[in-house]
Amino acid sequence: MARRRQLYEGKAKILFEGPEPGTLVQYFKDDATAFNAQKKGTITGKGVLNNRISEFLMMKLADINVPTHFIRRLNMREQLIKEVEIIPIEVVVRNIAAGSISQRLGIPEGTRLPRSIIEFYYKNDALNDPIVAEEHITAFGWATPPDMDDIVHLTLRINDFLSGLFLGVGITLVDFKVEFGRLYENEDMRIVLADEISPDNCRLWDSKTNEKMDKDRFRRDLGKIEEAYQEVARRLGILPEAGSRDMKGPETMQ
Ligand code: TMP
Repeated sequence: MARRRQLYEGKAKILFEGPEPGTLVQYFKDDATAFNAQKKGTITGKGVLNNRISEFLMMKLADINVPTHFIRRLNMREQLIKEVEIIPIEVVVRNIAAGSISQRLGIPEGTRLPRSIIEFYYKNDALNDPIVAEEHITAFGWATPPDMDDIVHLTLRINDFLSGLFLGVGITLVDFKVEFGRLYENEDMRIVLADEISPDNCRLWDSKTNEKMDKDRFRRDLGKIEEAYQEVARRLGILPEAGSRDMKGPETMQ
């Protein structure tokens, strides 16, 4: 069977041309990177789990009318998505201090923030994804002021919804990163949630023990990485039935 045309390869995913115009296939790899790819590794089964977790969370968000690029999961490692024009901004929401905000502002990790804080980072590997203000984003035309209104509004809804969803399964949503894209339909343009939501781009702590259940286990060499991702899927009720035996998934694409 003819191989699909590859359009883009990122650190954790590959995008292929989709079966119909306006669609893409998003393939989830087991590759993991941290610190702008200075640290590289493989987390066996990560792609399969992130595909499922992101599917689950995006479908739940669609249920509360958050527009997303997700159409449907195709197989263990692939999902069909709508082609969008990615806005080159990483939107980070923080509920509890951890990671770079703790380092930059000296706030001890684990401190609950007085309110949820949204930060923006310019997606540019050569510049190491620098933190930017809304002023930079609108002045340089990466997004318009109305785009930013939609992005902030959607991001706060996503944060409230996912915080509650994870709390219900004994997980604290410490922080996360999302990306948005412009979806063009006929004459209209809509801002939609894109990329993925998974333990790769969230900090998830066990609500009772504060044990880390996310990519920080890889970033900080804490071990039991695969187990942590599996436990997130298990608590969400979506662990593939055959368990870890099936985690590697198909080697070749259909
Ligand atoms: P940070 O504390 O390192 O700034 O990360 C904040 C959140 O964003 C955390 O949940 C991890 C996620 N993140 C990404 O998804 N991609 C990135 O490149 C970075 C730096 C963070």
